[in-house]
This record gives sequence, C-alpha cells and structure tokens, in this order.
Amino acid sequence: MQPGQAVIDHWRNAAPFWAKHRELIRQMFAPVTQALAEDAGIRSGHAVLDVATGPGEPALSIAALVGPEGKVVGIDPALEMVVAARRAADDSAFRNTQFEVASADCLPFPADTFDAVVSRFGVMFFPSPADSVREMLRVLKPGRKLALAVWHLAGNNPYFHTLSQIVGRYIDSPPPEPDAPDAFRFCTPGKLRNVLAEAGAMAPSGRLLQFTIQVQVPVEDFWTLRCEMSEKLREKIASLSSEQLPEVKRQSLEALREYSTDHGMSFPAEVLIVSGTKPPGI
Ligand SMILES: C[S@@+](CC[C@H](N)C(=O)[O-])C[C@H]1O[C@@H](n2cnc3c(N)ncnc32)[C@H](O)[C@@H]1O
Repeated sequence: MQPGQAVIDHWRNAAPFWAKHRELIRQMFAPVTQALAEDAGIRSGHAVLDVATGPGEPALSIAALVGPEGKVVGIDPALEMVVAARRAADDSAFRNTQFEVASADCLPFPADTFDAVVSRFGVMFFPSPADSVREMLRVLKPGRKLALAVWHLAGNNPYFHTLSQIVGRYIDSPPPEPDAPDAFRFCTPGKLRNVLAEAGAMAPSGRLLQFTIQVQVPVEDFWTLRCEMSEKLREKIASLSSEQLPEVKRQSLEALREYSTDHGMSFPAEVLIVSGTKPPGI
C-alpha cells in the first residue's frame, strides 16, 4: 500500500457524510475560510489552489471572493470527495472552479501558476507535510502566499473533545504517535511553522484564530452530525455494546446541552493559521 493510502481510503468512506453535511460544514468553518483568505492575500481576479478540498471548501467560498475574473482549483486524492465538490459547483452560481483528483505531494500544475494556495484541515493528514508544502511553493508565483489551517489543542475545542472524552470512557485507544495522521498532529504552536521553514517558505508565521462554531441544529442532530463526520467516532460507537450505546448517547447529549442556544449549537473554537511566502528563485 502507498504511504497515505489508508488515510485516503478512510476519507473515501467519509465522503458521503461530508457531502451530506456540506452546507453545515461550510457555515461552521466560514471564519476559518475568511482567515485563510486574509492571510493568503486573496483578491478579486486571483488564481487560487485549495489543497485537500474535500467536498469543495474553502474552494467554493473563495470562488465568490475572486469573482468571474479569477479562478479556484480544488484538489483531493479521494475521488468521492472530488465528485461531491464538482456536484456542489454545478449547483452553485460559480463557473470559475475546477476540481481534480490529486495528492498534495504531487500537484499536477506547472511552476508559478497560482496567486495563492490554501488548505483547511488538510495538512495533518499528508504523508509528508514538508514535501507537500514544497509542492505548494513550487506552484505558487514568487512573492505570493500560502496559508494553512490546523486545529489548536483538543482541550480548547469542545466541538471535538466533548464527545471523544465520553466515548473514551468506554473504548480505550492509545494516543496517536506524534506524527501520525490525526486532526491534532499540528496542534502545538510552532510545529507547522517549522515545516514551512524546512520546505523553504519565506517569513513563515502562525496566529491563533479564536472563533465560534455556530451550527443551527438541535443537540440530537449535532450528535448525528459529529458521529457521521468522524470515522474514528463512528468506528468506536459501532463497537459499543447494546447496553453501552444508549448510555453513551445519553451522557453525550447531556454534555452537549451546555453548548445549546436558542440559535442551535455554539462552541468556542481555536485554530492555528500558518502562512508563508514563496521566495524568488525557487
Ligand atoms: C478534514 S477533511 C477537510 C476537507 C475540507 N478542506 C474542509 O475543510 O471542509 C481532510 C481532507 O484531506 C484530504 N487528504 C488526505 N490526504 C491527502 C493528501 N495526501 N493530499 C491532499 N489531500 C489529502 C482528505 O481526502 C479530506 O478530504
């Protein structure tokens, strides 16, 4: 099996759920998209690459920012994600997007093609983040920027840890190895910035984005949304006994009610936005 193939297979399985919840995912992470667009310096008319686009975000939101004179290309190695992204693009008002099957470490574009490169919650799953950042720098025009979003510490993100803590009381799983593909692989400030430096980015920097994940669904629907979006949670929940499952769900709904408001669920959230510039002559 190729390095990263198990991860890609995992995301191919997850694609129907990510496609189903596409619009809610877009809304929940809109503040992250905005931060990426700001830090990558995206303007009207730009050609932008979205790496690990999943079912088409942030590519489709950025398509509105660059306008009809600009263009956004989204890539993802999971075919089912790309199919979902193309379908969403067909249903949207935008005709300035393109979605292709490709891996971050082998981008099918000539050097110096894009005005900006972004990736939202992707780099933590790449087999070699440094090689992938080198590829992103290769396809960027000199002097242009890339910006990547990764989760900050799990404990500061109740969107994740509320359910994983409760499920973890019943299903024991060892913490992942420091460089295993995992949502929190780059949660330590500075770790991803060092990868950008190693790959040759100029002036790599990171900032903490604190925002609110707002999702207009009741508690019970949020439980379904999270369980479907996370293959890890789905696997663990599937292995609970018939006595454990209702108890885990009861405890989860009780804990999630802390984040329930008149407008749906509302979680404080923390993400790191890490960016760097392509130097001339690489
Ligand atoms: C958490 S999802 C993020 C999707 C989307 N960017 C978003 O924020 O909604 C992670 C994505 O990374 C993709 N991915 C995994 N390995 C990859 C690789 N080697 N190159 C590019 N993308 C990869 C997965 O297929 C999946 O779509």
